[in-house]
Amino acid sequence: MSSDSSPLQSSAVINEAVQTLREGGLVAFPTETVYGLGADASNPEAINKVFTSKGRPSSHPLIVHLAAPDRFDQSEIDWVSVLAPWVRDISEDALKLIHAFWPGPLTLVFKKDKRVLNELTGGQDTVAIRAPAHPVAQELLRKFKGGVVAPSANRFGKVSPTRAADVRHEFEGVLDLMVLDGGDCEVGIESTIIDLSSGDHAVLLRPGAITPSEILAKTGIQVSRPGDHRPSSGDLPRVSGSLKAHYAPTTPLRLYAPGRVLDALSEFPDTKSRVAVVVWDSESSLVLEDHPSIDVEEIIVSSDPSIFASRLYRTLRDLDEQAWDLILFPEPPAGEEWDGVRDRLQRACFGSGPSSISHANS
Ligand code: TXA
Ligand code: MG
Repeated sequence: MSSDSSPLQSSAVINEAVQTLREGGLVAFPTETVYGLGADASNPEAINKVFTSKGRPSSHPLIVHLAAPDRFDQSEIDWVSVLAPWVRDISEDALKLIHAFWPGPLTLVFKKDKRVLNELTGGQDTVAIRAPAHPVAQELLRKFKGGVVAPSANRFGKVSPTRAADVRHEFEGVLDLMVLDGGDCEVGIESTIIDLSSGDHAVLLRPGAITPSEILAKTGIQVSRPGDHRPSSGDLPRVSGSLKAHYAPTTPLRLYAPGRVLDALSEFPDTKSRVAVVVWDSESSLVLEDHPSIDVEEIIVSSDPSIFASRLYRTLRDLDEQAWDLILFPEPPAGEEWDGVRDRLQRACFGSGPSSISHANS
């Protein structure tokens, strides 16, 4: 776990964060996926602050984060009581998923209890819930004793933060924000989201580290893709990360097909350009003599999907700060274990470039 080497926060600091949340303030905190921008899920003004600080449209629903009660034997946790204030029906399948994957990088969407504020669900009849595994998140949530809404702690449409410094950078000059430091996020991309609200099917809304095959193997539950079983449910943006443009750097970003770096470069007309080319560690070095006038630098990344995911956003942020004219990433290979990063990279490409925010909002 990232906590082993991370500067975990002292109890006094966590207590201060709890107090800030109780007073309606915002606190950024680490989870195992990405850093979240937290607010009291029972306080409408605090929830509104989250939307305005992120620049996120209020119709995009938020995930409620809950503490996993502290038990030596996780299988003894009474999740039905934990969820009772938030959700209407808890199916057998829901309990199987929860026992297999909570606390962890899995978000479940349920029909909501009537007490859940419309402000956080974007007016929908469903609510997304997750119990994060990161020890700092767990301590914060246990001490707070309530639900905490937490979108990724980035400005809307931008790259999600995986370090405390990323969060500070994201909100510099915009918001005086308390940031709990829990080190680097271990998973590195947002949680897998499964919609259980239809009652009979588990539907994948956002791919992440936990894949449908892993779910099938551990629980026997078959997860389908949206559209497999029902018509699309209207125009509501159920998952903001499902917008075509998201997770985007300001530098133009493109993917290249295996072995086709030169093609990608030759499509780029300006020969004075500085181009960062990301390459798999499993591949031999690029041969780029044909393009002597383009300033190309290779950046080596892991060809293991979990390691790649854990460093993806950090790599995007670092490259974005280095003032390249273009960033080229290799297309992730086929296979479910790459779905999460493929999804993030494709949206990042679509939204990349100086005007990405206007894309993201469209
Ligand atoms: O890993 C994560 O899930 C991180 C960490 C901080 O927990 N959080 C995160 O939050 O990614 P955010 O707000 O950036 O993405 C949450 C996604 C959004 O795309 C939202 O539309 C979707 O969850 N969502 C929330 N409530 C929903 C609902 N009732 N139905 C469908 N999708 C929902
Ligand atoms: Mg986000």
